[in-house]
Amino acid sequence: MNGSGSSFAKPGYEPGPPLWLLAELTYRCPLQCPYCSNPLDFARSHEELSTAEWIEVFRQAREMGAAQLGFSGGEPLVRQDLAELIEAARGLGYYTNLITSGIGLTEEKIASFAEAGLDHIQISFQAADEEVNNLLAGSKKAFAHKLEMARAVKKHGYPMVLNFVTHRHNIDNIDQIIRLCIELEADFVELATCQFYGWAELNRAGLLPSKEQLVRAERITNEWRDKLAAQNHPCKLIFVTPDYYEERPKACMNGWGNLFLDITPDGTALPCHSARQLPVEFPNVREHSIEHIWRHSFGFNKFRGYDWMPEPCRSCDEKERDFGGCRCQAFMLTGDAANADPVCSKSAHHGKILAARDQADHGALGLDQLQHRNEKASKLILKV
Ligand code: FES
Repeated sequence: MNGSGSSFAKPGYEPGPPLWLLAELTYRCPLQCPYCSNPLDFARSHEELSTAEWIEVFRQAREMGAAQLGFSGGEPLVRQDLAELIEAARGLGYYTNLITSGIGLTEEKIASFAEAGLDHIQISFQAADEEVNNLLAGSKKAFAHKLEMARAVKKHGYPMVLNFVTHRHNIDNIDQIIRLCIELEADFVELATCQFYGWAELNRAGLLPSKEQLVRAERITNEWRDKLAAQNHPCKLIFVTPDYYEERPKACMNGWGNLFLDITPDGTALPCHSARQLPVEFPNVREHSIEHIWRHSFGFNKFRGYDWMPEPCRSCDEKERDFGGCRCQAFMLTGDAANADPVCSKSAHHGKILAARDQADHGALGLDQLQHRNEKASKLILKV
């Protein structure tokens, strides 16, 4: 890694440190979730960073002030050097978090990660119902194994987050999902309605819940929150609504190149996990230092500040709060990443969001019509 290259830093704009580092260790994954946020063309990415290259990334980012490190993928457990990477990250002083499907996890691994200093584990489930879970995951044994591993994680004394990506085929079972999380002694439960990136965007017509489903799910979650609070129960429920039912966009990544740094398996550095699809040149850690990438690269400076914004964002008095929303969503829905996120009712493209809501009410696709994420499908998509 070297630090050379042109500087595209914006005069007068001094970015803070990349506080939150996400290491997408691999795109390999034993599951096939149709809402995976990995890029559709993940099959293009082969040369994963080596153990030494990852540790060098951690070192440089830590030197710049990164404090939290998430190990993600694909499925990070596929990497045989995971314990070594955790140990190196802890040695550098990171707070470390493993984001996993639980598939490939064993009690021995949980113990070895604890020894390496791992702080926190997040296990994702597809549903609280075994059949639906396994159908979505594309694996007959997934649900039983996840249950076993969630229990093992608690046995080893970790704080545990259970993550349920909710969508139109599981959100009506929110009560059952919450009961399962309480039974598994989750400390935090993320009930995150599907956001539409990667494979989820491809399957949006089969995933977006109707407004009625969403309102009911939020009401049930709030009732559970009250019940848990009355009992002083430690389990915390986090409910995330999808952008598609908002009138103002989210401040995606808390602003472009502001605090989030994502490194993909082949070393491409991104300001968010979805940015690789944008027609923007992004740097690679094999060619540039993290310092250069964060401060001077073209990709990380492209949407910093406000001068890149066209109308309606340019003159909008909310731009400092939401930064015009999500660049990736703007690109996917309008073809131009600089446009206002169409979630915003001021966007000229907001009709696309309204049409998607209408489809969720009247023309949604069934569970059996979803395109599962897998290498073969990714290669076919590459050829189209
Ligand atoms: Fe890329 Fe929002 S996901 S900017």
